[in-house]
Amino acid sequence: MHSFRYVDGSLKCEGVDLEKLASEVGTPAYVYSAETIRGNYRRLDEALAPLGDRMICYAMKANGNLSVLNLLAKEGAGFDIVSGGELFKVLKAGGRADRCTFAGVGKTAAEIEYALRQGIYSFNVESEEELEMINAVAAKAGLVAPIAIRVNPDVDAPTHKYISTGKSKNKFGIGLDRAAAVYERAASLPNLKIRGLQTHIGSQILKAPPFAEAVRKLTPLVLELKAKYGLEFFSVGGGVGIVYRGALSSGDAAWWKGSGENGEGDRLAPETYAAEVIEPLKALGLRILFEPGRFIVGNAGVLLTSVLYRKSTPTKNFVIVDAGMNDLIRPALYEGYHEIEPLKQPSSTDLERVDVVGPVCESGDFFAQDREVPVLVPGDRIALMSAGAYGFVMASTYNARPLLPEVLVEGDKATIVRARQTWDDLLLGERLPT
Ligand code: LLP
Repeated sequence: MHSFRYVDGSLKCEGVDLEKLASEVGTPAYVYSAETIRGNYRRLDEALAPLGDRMICYAMKANGNLSVLNLLAKEGAGFDIVSGGELFKVLKAGGRADRCTFAGVGKTAAEIEYALRQGIYSFNVESEEELEMINAVAAKAGLVAPIAIRVNPDVDAPTHKYISTGKSKNKFGIGLDRAAAVYERAASLPNLKIRGLQTHIGSQILKAPPFAEAVRKLTPLVLELKAKYGLEFFSVGGGVGIVYRGALSSGDAAWWKGSGENGEGDRLAPETYAAEVIEPLKALGLRILFEPGRFIVGNAGVLLTSVLYRKSTPTKNFVIVDAGMNDLIRPALYEGYHEIEPLKQPSSTDLERVDVVGPVCESGDFFAQDREVPVLVPGDRIALMSAGAYGFVMASTYNARPLLPEVLVEGDKATIVRARQTWDDLLLGERLPT
């Protein structure tokens, strides 16, 4: 489900006309639909209801806007965090520390201490050295740190090589062969409390079987650890992929019929995912955690941008827009595909083959290459679809381009939930040597 559709030739987000919004807020700008975020959360939670004791820890790295976090906190979500800064934001947004899991291979002592004092639910430990560090920090603080070890199941999940994590060649987690020994070590450390086991196989995965395969591969170990140390939870990580191609036609039931970013022509509905994983997860007899990021927010956001110029070379037609790779880096970094939709449906059905590029001084600064899109002329505004996940959070001020605003839509109401940076903001913290 998502809430972007054409009504009388105008692209709307819920009840808000995006062309009108763009003229008020300016471009580039991110726009999120609250209804879509809530809908995705509820739909996933309902699909997983047969599990009983479960907790959805939204992976806030996908979209960390305070208002998005606040909305999900109100839904009862927990949060999967990867830095002290993320925990700080969760708490500011009204989230609860005791519903947070802390992942990541490079937690610093200061971050560990902060999270410990706030009372997080679990540290998801990624290495033996980190385990020792958490114990040492907890000892110094006179506290006991709840931990889970991230176990790498060595499962191949088809996705882009930069976002695959479940293979032994990736830097994440501890191998299945070492895991039992590391738990034994954890049990011997006085300031640690073993709470769970976590895994995560990668991101933008459009097939359910690899998730179930990871659970099944880990089951004997989990049952053994449960008997030995009284495990409380198992986290199956995140990674449920979304539709990028055909994202718009997907506003209704047809949504899931898109062909994924990987061009494989498949889709992963939460119900399909749930149907595959529920049985092996139930067999564990534990509380089950999920860490979805992209699934919750990906299709809930668009990036609005305006056409500045057209330009042709003997081999290419370029459409130059006012958003750049600094605003949305996914195409440059992962060959990410984002559908392009004009905010005003063109009267002509003519298409032309173009590269849609930004103003940044890099050849990698593109949103589409050799793509057939409606004829676009200067002043036209377009939406880059499915940009709600890993969009703003990965934005930078490269080329001294101020960070763009974020707008949250709820029904007919649009709120600027992050202001556009000014040129003065670009100087923040900088000073000349005296
Ligand atoms: N849990 C862990 C331990 C993770 O590393 C991640 C994502 C998630 C959960 C959430 O995964 P999701 O449900 O969103 O797939 N910037 C890339 C994606 C990086 C994903 C990193 N880890 C992109 O734009 O495609």
